[in-house]
Amino acid sequence: MRKRLTISAALAAALLLTNPAGAATGAVGASGAGDAYYPQYGNGGYDVSHYDLRLKYQPATDQLEGTATILATTTAALSRFNLDFALTVQEVHVNGRKARFAATGEHELEITPAAPLGKGERATVVVRYSGVPSTVSAYGFTAWQRTPDGGVAAGEPESAWWWFPSNDHPSDKATFDVSVLVPDGTQAISNGALVSQSSRLGWTRYNWRQTKPQATYLATLAVGRFELNTSVSDGGIPVITAYSRDLGDNAGAARASLERTGEITDWLSTQLGPYPFATVGGYVPNTKPGYALETQSQVYYSPRIFGAGSNTSVVVHELAHQWYGDSVSLDRWSDIWLNEGFARYAQWLWSEHENEGTAQELADWVYSSRPADDPFWTVLPGDPGPDNQFHPAVYDRGALAVQAIRNAVGDEAFFAVLRGWPAEHKYGNATVEDFRRYAERVSGKPLGDLLHTWLYTGGKPAAGTSPSLKA
Ligand code: ARG
Ligand code: ZN
Repeated sequence: MRKRLTISAALAAALLLTNPAGAATGAVGASGAGDAYYPQYGNGGYDVSHYDLRLKYQPATDQLEGTATILATTTAALSRFNLDFALTVQEVHVNGRKARFAATGEHELEITPAAPLGKGERATVVVRYSGVPSTVSAYGFTAWQRTPDGGVAAGEPESAWWWFPSNDHPSDKATFDVSVLVPDGTQAISNGALVSQSSRLGWTRYNWRQTKPQATYLATLAVGRFELNTSVSDGGIPVITAYSRDLGDNAGAARASLERTGEITDWLSTQLGPYPFATVGGYVPNTKPGYALETQSQVYYSPRIFGAGSNTSVVVHELAHQWYGDSVSLDRWSDIWLNEGFARYAQWLWSEHENEGTAQELADWVYSSRPADDPFWTVLPGDPGPDNQFHPAVYDRGALAVQAIRNAVGDEAFFAVLRGWPAEHKYGNATVEDFRRYAERVSGKPLGDLLHTWLYTGGKPAAGTSPSLKA
């Protein structure tokens, strides 16, 4: 489900001219979606509606193998197109016919169907593959995290190439069925609902289903020895939590945090509007790096996050992303403020709810604790660059921008915007420009200058523009 296409008309024309038979065979799909931060991520010429991943994983060897069946529709006539993928491919079929393929670049799979595809045609692409994800690197790193009892795919913006072929850009969202075969006694976790599980011949199959459109970086896979729990929130949302059996001293704090997932989701619904997905949850594998990721409806948390006791604030952050980032997704990575600024602001609202300081107090504290010469003020939350996408300025200065909007429009309009935006673009994509227009329409206040100051201008904004000063 994407809006843009990146086939150049000139390229298409050139191909038509050089085609010896004289018949229209279509253009070559672009190897990137044209994102300014990550030009090679995503591809051109088609739109994916569904990924069906049928996989087998052996924790002892980190061997992953299986078949991805991708349902797509072309947005241009295509003689060739790309998927983003880093593992080894054995075979590709397009619409039932064997296709030629080649691995190119850092993570590109180039596919030439037996017959060219027409514009607006449905394409069923079947990719059979295998590999040891932890040994495969692209751009000098590996996004697959090996654990003592398995492996985990959870990373932003990269993680998909290490476990399934995709159109890896948030502008092309799709539904997912993920079916994983693992040895008995081991669990497999992915997004959405655990539809069924069954064992035979010493292997257990887990069938996970995500029925709402999901960006590829929000798809997750974890295999390991987990304890899986299910419950239902007061608001009626099924909750799935999972804990590695090997969390050591962090086990209690992890559980004390994630077991509040249902309660926090219900509370967030009062702030951000109805929860957009069919299930909610979180899992804690025994990984090392200390971050969390808002993997859709099944959040990834590293155990380190719980190293000092319970941390409901991070749970609030990742669950707020279900509205801001997952249901309403970025159209381009430079707009990361739409995700992180609002997820951080939700933490400030939670602090207020928990009587640990109001959002205004936290905004004033961030503002006053960062001196004017702090490099913090040089990163622009509205265009931080790929190297600073997750810089504290995107989060904290980003949340200051949200507080500035609140003070400019007043609480009534502010909370109408906070709740209305996820409804306005539910399951879709949007830009900061779209947000400005929406917030101006709902509040009746011009916000261009304010956003220019807080998102796009380097340096510490003068006290007169500080969020402390009510407009
Ligand atoms: N969206 C994530 C969060 O704020 C950011 C994770 C970034 N870390 C990473 N290793 N990719 O929770
Ligand atoms: Zn975040």
